[in-house]
Amino acid sequence: MEASKNLNKEKLVNAVLRNIIRNIGEINYKNNIYPDFKKILDKIFSSESIRNYLYDTLFLKPKNYQISLFDKKGALYGKRVLALEKKIFKGCFVQDIGNFEVINSIHKFYKDKNLIDICAAPGGKSILLQSLGFNILAIDKSQNQINKFEENINRLNIKMNIQKIDFLKKKFNYKFNSILLDAPCSALGTFRRNPDVTLKIDQSKMKKHQKTQLEMAERSIKILNKGGFLVYIVCSFHPFETIDVIDKITQKHKNIKIHNIKSDKMIKRKKGYFINPLRFKDFGGSDIFFVSVLEKI
Ligand SMILES: C[S@@+](CC[C@H](N)C(=O)[O-])C[C@H]1O[C@@H](n2cnc3c(N)ncnc32)[C@H](O)[C@@H]1O
Repeated sequence: MEASKNLNKEKLVNAVLRNIIRNIGEINYKNNIYPDFKKILDKIFSSESIRNYLYDTLFLKPKNYQISLFDKKGALYGKRVLALEKKIFKGCFVQDIGNFEVINSIHKFYKDKNLIDICAAPGGKSILLQSLGFNILAIDKSQNQINKFEENINRLNIKMNIQKIDFLKKKFNYKFNSILLDAPCSALGTFRRNPDVTLKIDQSKMKKHQKTQLEMAERSIKILNKGGFLVYIVCSFHPFETIDVIDKITQKHKNIKIHNIKSDKMIKRKKGYFINPLRFKDFGGSDIFFVSVLEKI
């Protein structure tokens, strides 16, 4: 009840924020957005054309898409992505197009189709991976989030092994070849959907996120077999949660190799890739994700 009140409040805040921003049309966003937000965005996206696109479309709500469980005729992108207009079609689930791109471009790294999704709820990535032939063990510590996950899979009429587990407390006595870590983060990359995230950037919160992300990455490496793959994802572009996490991990673990990803929709940085929203211009843009593919050698 309290959670849904807060959720509604957040939705309202974001709708109002977007409205205010739209109504002051002549405002020069570049000079008026939260200074840290701009500084960080500029640091990651050094290309002027990407930055211009980002600032020109700042806080314009992205288009909604639905992903089909199967390849579908008439799909707008990647054989599976369809526009979401009035209703969700049977066998489809809602997902940002950038999110789809991330999974679509990394799933082939996994040699073993038995995969543990460590922060799985509400299930967007697990559902897509299962539809690509994976056998998923989906874990999450939040019952609320798991409830949403279960609603999703019931609606899609699919089955999945979902378990309520706090990954930071669980001791596994076996290892995995395929791990997905879609770590909890600031969600800064969803700023067009949720303008309020730009107001929440503060060093100490970011450091806290990083601590959790590092702890989760460490534990993931511990339960990863030699030759196995760990994919780290966050919907953020803040260096603390992205490049720095992978940097710290690879400095400590010399047996971790970072792989190159083939996608013309991402920009490469030393330790991973960021979705390039400009490449989704014709689709109304996308959220920004960071992804890094790690192999234990
Ligand atoms: C970014 S969301 C995951 C989104 C999901 N992968 C998807 O694609 O729909 C992060 C999730 O991590 C979960 N989480 C946070 N801390 C956790 C922990 N210690 N163990 C397991 N799950 C955790 C949260 O409950 C939340 O559902």
